[in-house]
Amino acid sequence: MLTVKTILAKKSFSKENLVTLLKSSGNDRLELFKAAAAIKQKKIGNHVFLRGLIEYSNICDKNCFYCGIRKDIRNINRYKITQDEIKRAFEYVLKNNFGSLVLQSGEISHPQFTKTITIFLEIAKNISDGKLGITLSCGEQSESTYKQWFNAGAHRYLLRIETSSPELYKKLHPTDDKHNFFKRKQSLYLLKNLGYQVGTGVMIGLPWQSTTDLANDLLFMKDLDIDMCGMGPYIEHVDTPLFKHKDILIPLKERFDLTLKMIAILRLMMPDINIAATTAMQAIDKQGREKALMVGANILMPNVTPRKYREDYFLYENKPCYDENPDDCLPCLEARVVASGNKIIFGEWGDSKHFAKRHQA
Ligand code: 5AD
Ligand code: SF4
Ligand code: FES
Repeated sequence: MLTVKTILAKKSFSKENLVTLLKSSGNDRLELFKAAAAIKQKKIGNHVFLRGLIEYSNICDKNCFYCGIRKDIRNINRYKITQDEIKRAFEYVLKNNFGSLVLQSGEISHPQFTKTITIFLEIAKNISDGKLGITLSCGEQSESTYKQWFNAGAHRYLLRIETSSPELYKKLHPTDDKHNFFKRKQSLYLLKNLGYQVGTGVMIGLPWQSTTDLANDLLFMKDLDIDMCGMGPYIEHVDTPLFKHKDILIPLKERFDLTLKMIAILRLMMPDINIAATTAMQAIDKQGREKALMVGANILMPNVTPRKYREDYFLYENKPCYDENPDDCLPCLEARVVASGNKIIFGEWGDSKHFAKRHQA
């Protein structure tokens, strides 16, 4: 087996190398983080781009076993943000010069939903003169829906594969047509072919997930040649079916540390993609997102969902900032970024450099 130092000097990593890096500890672990920080500095600098995150609706047609807004959960208030509120959230993002927004929602494939999102996209383009960058995260949809949204102005799409192992995927989802690993993977290719900048990601520290699974996740992302990545630790939610397996989970702190390693390794493998410091990291560690920025992440997604809806978008426990107004969050966030040695770049789309290169080629 190669040492961490030898592996870090290599141009590409085998599965075995990735497992070694994921298992690194002590000084080796710090070397990994240092190498990732150095390559980030060299390839994309210390710039952090913002995406105002709007959680449009917590209504979802799916029943993922881990998720706090899955269809079968009865004791939450299901909401949809009104068009007026959406417009105000867009204006907030624009006024604060975030440059981009992410429109996220539970997964619905009703024609009315498709139309609503299209209208929102048009509003965002209109009020900003086309200046707002727009990422969608609205799950698996038909090719024609993806096309309609692309034509209406969405240019980035996030669809987490959740795990690249079809076997593990099966244990985390009901076995039916709505929760099909291969269909989900196919959606990622559809999005890419339509011209979207495509992001995916996984959950880390899932029950039954091995270090080899995580190594495969990294290889999956590399192979798909993604432009963006958002991944985070799995955090158990008491009202979900997966909760009963909490006893086989690794401790939260280890899930957090593995996530840092995943970010660092992915940065080494794909130096010019966008990697988000996700909210789930902050749910475990108060400085979680700063730590992510220090080992390779370069994107932050401040939540700009109107305050009154936030408590109904509890994907997992301990979700941070849910009782802050966006205005309280921004100064706090800026201070956090500076403390991590980075700098927020306002008013730019902050597209993945990888995408630009991919398109020139
Ligand atoms: N822990 C961590 N992340 C979760 N997600 C859903 N449920 C959980 C959980 N319990 C993530 C999934 C999904 C995204 C919207 O939230 O990765 O894609
Ligand atoms: Fe719906 Fe996404 Fe939650 Fe699955 S993870 S139940 S698709 S919101
Ligand atoms: Fe939301 Fe600090 S980032 S309150």
